[in-house]
Amino acid sequence: MILPIVAYGDPVLRKKGVDIDQDYKDLKQLIDNMFETMYHANGVGLAAPQIGKSIRLFIVDAAPFEDKEPELKDFVQVFINPEIVEQSGEEWAFNEGCLSIPGIREDVMRKPTILVRYYDENFEYYEEEFSGLAARVIQHEYDHIEGILFTDRINALKRTLLKGKLNDISKGKVDVDYKMKFPKK
Ligand code: NI
Repeated sequence: MILPIVAYGDPVLRKKGVDIDQDYKDLKQLIDNMFETMYHANGVGLAAPQIGKSIRLFIVDAAPFEDKEPELKDFVQVFINPEIVEQSGEEWAFNEGCLSIPGIREDVMRKPTILVRYYDENFEYYEEEFSGLAARVIQHEYDHIEGILFTDRINALKRTLLKGKLNDISKGKVDVDYKMKFPKK
């Protein structure tokens, strides 16, 4: 089932998600629905707050970045209760977008290598290092479960210039070809 994606301005995008356990109601169904929703919107990642759930869960499928990094072809992963425990290297810029903020893309600086502890959909535990675009997608989605958006990570002047556009998005005054929920509509 395709779920509506919550748009910029909704308070759920600003809340820190809570940990879940294996007994979380209909978890498998929720994860399936999130994948369907993400693919329908042509995203490479989707975090639970973006479908209105304030929990520490996100999914990624970085296959669309295969042309940039061939090993991403099979990078499909569910992250439950993740913790980024380390970030290292020289910050680099990448032009990011977000399904909750359609039509806006900006360069965001992030470190290239991360160490993440997480559980997968079967509650198997991992401690794994990621780098490059895999790390980038994880950092962006991880921000979502911390209540942070990529527009928080651009400089203040750019953010001021985007204010009108962001306000329009929250009112639903934006062209988008997937189902969304607008807080001020
Ligand atoms: Ni996003």
